[in-house]
Amino acid sequence: MKTHEDANTMTQTPPNTYGFFDDAHREYVITRPDTPLPWLNYLGQDEFFGLCTNTAGGYTFWKDAKLRRLTRYRYNNVPYDLGGRYFYVNDGGEVWNPGWKPVKTKNVAYECRHGLGYTRIVGERDGLEVETLFFVPPGENLEVWKVTVRNKSAQRKTPKLFSYQEFCFFDALNDMTNLQRTYSIGEVEVEGSAIYHKTEFRERRNHYTLFACTRPIAGFDTSRDAFVGIHEGLHEPKVPFAGACTNSIAFGWNPIGAHQVDLDLAPGAEESFAFVLAYVEQGDEPKYDAPFVMNKKVGRAIVEKYSAPGAVDAALAALKKYWDDLLGNFQTECPNEHANRMLNTWNQYQCMATFNMSRSASMYETGIGRGMGFRDSNQDLLGFLHMIPSRGKQRILDIAATQLSDGTCFHQYQPLTKKGNAEIGGDFYDDHLWLVLSTCAYIKETGDVTILQEPCGYADKEYASADAQENLLHHLETSIAYTMKKRGPHGLPLIGHADWNDCLNLNCFSTEPNESFQLAGDVKDSKAESVMIAGLFLYAANEMDGLYSFMGKAADANRMRAHHAEMLAVIERETWDGEWYTRAYDAEGRVVGSKSNEEGKIFIESQGWCVLGGAGANNGRAKQAMESVHKHLFTKNGVVLQQPAYSTYNKDLGEVTSYPPGVKENAGIFSHNNTWINLGWCLLGDGERALEYYLSICPSAKQDQIETYRGEPYVYAQMIAGKDAPCFGEAKNNWLTGTAAWTFVTVSQGLLGVKPDFAGLRIDPCIPKAWPGFTATRRFRGNTYQIDVKNPSGVCKGVKSLRLDGKDIDPQAPIPFVADGKTHQVEAVLGA
Ligand code: BGC
Repeated sequence: MKTHEDANTMTQTPPNTYGFFDDAHREYVITRPDTPLPWLNYLGQDEFFGLCTNTAGGYTFWKDAKLRRLTRYRYNNVPYDLGGRYFYVNDGGEVWNPGWKPVKTKNVAYECRHGLGYTRIVGERDGLEVETLFFVPPGENLEVWKVTVRNKSAQRKTPKLFSYQEFCFFDALNDMTNLQRTYSIGEVEVEGSAIYHKTEFRERRNHYTLFACTRPIAGFDTSRDAFVGIHEGLHEPKVPFAGACTNSIAFGWNPIGAHQVDLDLAPGAEESFAFVLAYVEQGDEPKYDAPFVMNKKVGRAIVEKYSAPGAVDAALAALKKYWDDLLGNFQTECPNEHANRMLNTWNQYQCMATFNMSRSASMYETGIGRGMGFRDSNQDLLGFLHMIPSRGKQRILDIAATQLSDGTCFHQYQPLTKKGNAEIGGDFYDDHLWLVLSTCAYIKETGDVTILQEPCGYADKEYASADAQENLLHHLETSIAYTMKKRGPHGLPLIGHADWNDCLNLNCFSTEPNESFQLAGDVKDSKAESVMIAGLFLYAANEMDGLYSFMGKAADANRMRAHHAEMLAVIERETWDGEWYTRAYDAEGRVVGSKSNEEGKIFIESQGWCVLGGAGANNGRAKQAMESVHKHLFTKNGVVLQQPAYSTYNKDLGEVTSYPPGVKENAGIFSHNNTWINLGWCLLGDGERALEYYLSICPSAKQDQIETYRGEPYVYAQMIAGKDAPCFGEAKNNWLTGTAAWTFVTVSQGLLGVKPDFAGLRIDPCIPKAWPGFTATRRFRGNTYQIDVKNPSGVCKGVKSLRLDGKDIDPQAPIPFVADGKTHQVEAVLGA
């Protein structure tokens, strides 16, 4: 731990000293608190989640950040990231926080370790060390905040420790906006060391928030006005500075939870205890013991459980085991340290976050906006299915159930209700195709085709029973048929409100700042077409072909091949611009993404998807399209989305032209779609480019430019500013991005070539020539494969020989799969 004398010296510390990877412990260690931006971690893996920054900022919710938010957070605060899981230490009158904020006292040593599902922050001042550890035990609906206070000085110390967090009234939007109501409804009860936040419990809620300490307390507060004050800020709260809680009972206004713990520590002594912040469902228990007195049986049992000696440490050990098991499904040792570290730990960890959060709650998503995205969550599954396929299966069925019977889909849904969001509605004409990709990925991972028969209705139909519902296969067929049907004058798929690029709005024509770019305009009769959807369709049709072939349904497989051939012919006929594939046709039939355009001449998405879908494979166009990407779009910080950037707003193209050049969809580096190009290089067998492109967006490789990059070095960012922006190389929107799942696919399946296929695991790496080889361990359908790839002749691609448990097998085919639950040795030799 380093001591920071004051904020000035901190900012003068040379760049690249904010932290480092502790790979052995799977932790990122932050050594100074004033990171270029708050660096976030997620707590929770099942249904209960917390956002926790490196200064303990953030909030907590159960299942749904909009409808079940337990603690309060003010987004876009000043300073950034204020409010969270705070401890105030009053040691002989000096008040400080182990996580530096909010008081920011000088001379406090600091270290934060973001680990898998936990964050540990340690502060030390004047010989007193306070270690705080935040995590959500697997399977539980609660956060544990473990505290250890150590007297490292030679004198007896009698510090007082104050916990603090602010309760949220569950519905986060209401909480933030409806003050005429919320200022009057806040209610709490206190029993021993437990604070019960019970606002709205008297009426329609059967749940409450519990915030309890596992050791006796010297006092408490539940009124923010009493603890902090009316005119004071969190950096100068009244109670910690005064040194004593007031035992306030909130009635209306702003309820909080604060405990006072008085300690008496001899030199060298330490004491550990914990706090529990829980979402408690009352179940069938009677709500009240007496008028206005809650029945606290369920809450009491929780406090008791975590007060038992060893309970907290056992829960932490369970969390560690949980992650060790999960990550054990895929581990590699390859010659690149960034690829190793990201794939083995952080990328898979980020995939858990995107699976759980979709695009709902981060430092950029406020938890009240977008819920689960149809296209987003389908893609997130691609990085998650190898970890917990059973949860993936349920998610696929939930998503499919928000499709409408004509084939369109609700673009988003709320995780708590699983109901489509009517405000945004449907008509994004790529959405349904992603369902084909996620379902096929599930079957490739598990071999379980029974998912196709699972009952799964359409969101616009009423069903008397589950048996009356269609099945998942019906949805896949509906999706394929929908794209085949919804086509425009060139035979390309219509785009609707937008395709993957939410901001390419060819039907909005918005001139009015008070309307949504996506929802304005008349989609139904529009003729605007998308080349990107055409490419994605090729890929989806190939997947369906593979699926039907695996199921022995030759006629259906042929039908899919015919669809593929038909769309391929359209693409090759209508969209080749000479050196690359065009991007779209607008509502007037004018080309977008062509040499003939003044700006936006070449786009990334159609090159990626046409190549991945098999376009240009036999006529050299695939290679040429990729070379054009390299020439016009590649930079040292990744591939920009298009060039030249749009300089003026054009209502015919929509939101993409609304952004300043170099950010977001207007020529920003959208990491998500970089991965498709990466996979394209793998398909074409260029391992040098594949690795170079991967490293260009890899956060672990950005540590030596962290003052520019600014984001967390351990998770992929949605966007890095492009070369047209003054802040070229600056990352934004870290964590919740499709980049997580797609980089997992890129590195594990593209570079390392460990590819789940319908019949079994396929080995088909594409690596730099200089790599002598690599090893990987892959658990697959209950078996474990220890894979050893050797590259004696220094090639990028091509498996010359393949051996399974010492016997030669067909190097071009999937490894024959026999479910025996055993460990198998796979040796692959690359070469011509
Ligand atoms: C959205 C994605 C979209 C991407 C590109 C993200 O913010 O969540 O659904 O594909 O932007 O526009």
